[in-house]
Amino acid sequence: MVRWVYVFLNIVAQLLVATANRACERSKYCSHGKIKGYIGPLDTAAQLREALEATHYKGEVIVFGETRLSDAAQALARFREVGYAHVLPVLEEASQCHHIRSVFFPWPSDEGPLSCGTYAIHDASGNEYHTRFKYLARMVGFSSWWRKWFTVGRAVALGYNVMAVDSDVLVLDDWYWRVKQPPLSDFNMLTQNEWGVSFNGGFSYIQNATSSGPVAWLLFEALHRAVRWAEDDSAIMAISPAYASRRQIGLNDQGILQECLHSAVLGHPVYPSVLAFYGDDKEAFSRLGMTGDTMFRAMNDPVYKAWQMGQRYPVSGELAEAVCERYMEADCPTYEKDTVQISTVELKMPHSGGKWPVEFGGYPFNRTPGPLTTAYRQAYADLGVNLWPDPEDPATEAAARGTKPERFGYLSYRTTDTECSGCWAESTWWMTGRHGWWHKQLPGYARRKVGIGHIWANLFPGEYQKEIILMHTGWYNWRVAARLAKSRSRVYIANQLCTFNHIHNPVPDIRTVVAYQPGVIHANLSKEQYVQAVQGLAQVAVALGSIAAWPAAACDSEWALTEEAHKSGRRPTEHAVPWSYLNTYYTVQPFGENLQGLQCEWAGFSHYDCLCTQQPDRLEVGRGMLAVEFQHLVTSTRAVPSLDTTLKLEDGVPAAAPPPAGNIARQAVRYRDLIALNAKFVFRRLQTEQMPIFWLDRLVEVSDLDGEAADQFNHWRTKCLALHYLDLTEEQRGRV
Ligand SMILES: *[C@@H]1O[C@H](CO)[C@@H](O)[C@H](O)[C@H]1NC(C)=O
Ligand SMILES: *[C@@H]1O[C@H](CO)[C@@H](O)[C@H](O)[C@H]1NC(C)=O
Repeated sequence: MVRWVYVFLNIVAQLLVATANRACERSKYCSHGKIKGYIGPLDTAAQLREALEATHYKGEVIVFGETRLSDAAQALARFREVGYAHVLPVLEEASQCHHIRSVFFPWPSDEGPLSCGTYAIHDASGNEYHTRFKYLARMVGFSSWWRKWFTVGRAVALGYNVMAVDSDVLVLDDWYWRVKQPPLSDFNMLTQNEWGVSFNGGFSYIQNATSSGPVAWLLFEALHRAVRWAEDDSAIMAISPAYASRRQIGLNDQGILQECLHSAVLGHPVYPSVLAFYGDDKEAFSRLGMTGDTMFRAMNDPVYKAWQMGQRYPVSGELAEAVCERYMEADCPTYEKDTVQISTVELKMPHSGGKWPVEFGGYPFNRTPGPLTTAYRQAYADLGVNLWPDPEDPATEAAARGTKPERFGYLSYRTTDTECSGCWAESTWWMTGRHGWWHKQLPGYARRKVGIGHIWANLFPGEYQKEIILMHTGWYNWRVAARLAKSRSRVYIANQLCTFNHIHNPVPDIRTVVAYQPGVIHANLSKEQYVQAVQGLAQVAVALGSIAAWPAAACDSEWALTEEAHKSGRRPTEHAVPWSYLNTYYTVQPFGENLQGLQCEWAGFSHYDCLCTQQPDRLEVGRGMLAVEFQHLVTSTRAVPSLDTTLKLEDGVPAAAPPPAGNIARQAVRYRDLIALNAKFVFRRLQTEQMPIFWLDRLVEVSDLDGEAADQFNHWRTKCLALHYLDLTEEQRGRV
């Protein structure tokens, strides 16, 4: 009873903390509890109107596309947590929307209902569309992204302001506060920059775009081009024999959006995609009478010329205090705070003027539109709003030239590895996240230096990076994960099937975990000693059929530091945001409840074969748990190491005391002792505990593993990168 009261009070306290700090409050764009919600199809204009009406808040909607349920649920949970409930996830199947609804149901009254939409994946007679999207006859990148843009484009045409995102975007602080005041309020479209003048499809924001203007057109036109090329590529085949023999459409949404954006910059349709179609087909270029390079320059150079890369805008007041474009340093000198740079360009309504110059890609379509192209155009016509002058119709040139231009800006424009324009509004993991600016529970977060984060650019190699980053930064919603997993032990990667190949048997659930006690892994271990410690832990885990809780490194370990920090000879005594002295490129990722308790996850474990099994029907490899997952397990079960929960290593009463702090020697443990001394204890705890943790109070190695256990360990060692780190070459080690 007392325990339940405690749990209840704890939940209430957490809710109070959560609601008190909602990021939306600064701008008063808090929509939680204020939307009606919509679950259903988005195919027709009427359905979309209904969905938007039931989702928007002050004319704003947030749209993302996803096919994976857990990513969608996590993203939705994050938006709702900051008070943005005006989100319309676009999923693949109607059943997913109902599933999402059940994960969030019953919603707290102060969060309110949710929305979720889908598009038909079958035709009227029940035949599944090959691309699972009605308008695309062939795959052009991911259908999921196109469903997003189809929704976004029509919402913009209907007059909504839209944040178009991927599910790996995080709201770190109030976006609307940033975007509804100068200088960002003067932009009709803001997008994350990839590099140069390249477009990243993961984050865009559109405001006050007219239904007949260049922004609405470019959102329409990107999918229009994809639909046309997928349906009928005869114009491309007529020029390129090499393309005709392969017929591969190596394009995706962001590339085509980019060329539509560039068309609006130039005021004339350009088609850089044809260069991808023609590849190095000499015959195609000789027919066209020019080289690919000439075409590329004809389409690119004027775009660069028109772009105002480092355009400066004044900022003042509270915004000036919040903006500091340096992310490897804690603060900026005040004189740097009165202007910001936004990579800016003006968008005009493009028009062909009836001319289709070869160097702009010519007219790369069949002049007679196919049925899918016609249907796509009709979907926009059905909206019943005033659309743009058709750039292909010579009669509309004057109207196009008379259309009011709109303003476009790139955010997250990287100038150097330490400086970036617009990262205060939106930025990547590489530029800001890895230095600690996204960590929700740390003091750095309190400064709220960044509005939106995108888990993108130079992530450490491996799998699950995006989930891991969410866990490290405190943005992973464990409650949502548990509701999806329907079990406490299944929320951990170790107990999930780690492949998209579902022909395998379900993974058996492992409920016992072995872990080093706090302090056994310490800052004075070299990386080699740390890896040996981890190998010893893996041996014990294999011997006992348990999950190995991979230990975090101490963040002041020499090998966790950057080369510069290492050379300077400085060992951090206390941690601070930004932790630019830590090697967050590949080596470590910090996490923790506070700076004193900061721990450093070694990225070497973030691979399938270090965490889970791809062959659940065989004891091929062991299972592992990330340090950040283990922290969740310890916190949620309130596990504390004690004599009763520590593994017995050698026969003898009383047990030998553990070695003193700072020990680096591994104690050899006999396989048979480990089993004989602990088996009863393991079984007993399994009867009464969900996921018992078995602690090791010292560094160990099991030198005499044999039989199946030895085979399993050896195989694990070959497959898990972290376990065979010591066998890697110097160069390979540099990337782990
Ligand atoms: C959009 O509308 C708001 C509110 O009317 C206005 O303050 C802002 O300047 C407008 N921005 C653009 C780019 O039109
Ligand atoms: C690491 O070594 C230094 C110097 O030998 C010592 O002062 C420190 O206490 C050691 N730290 C740990 C955690 O053992």
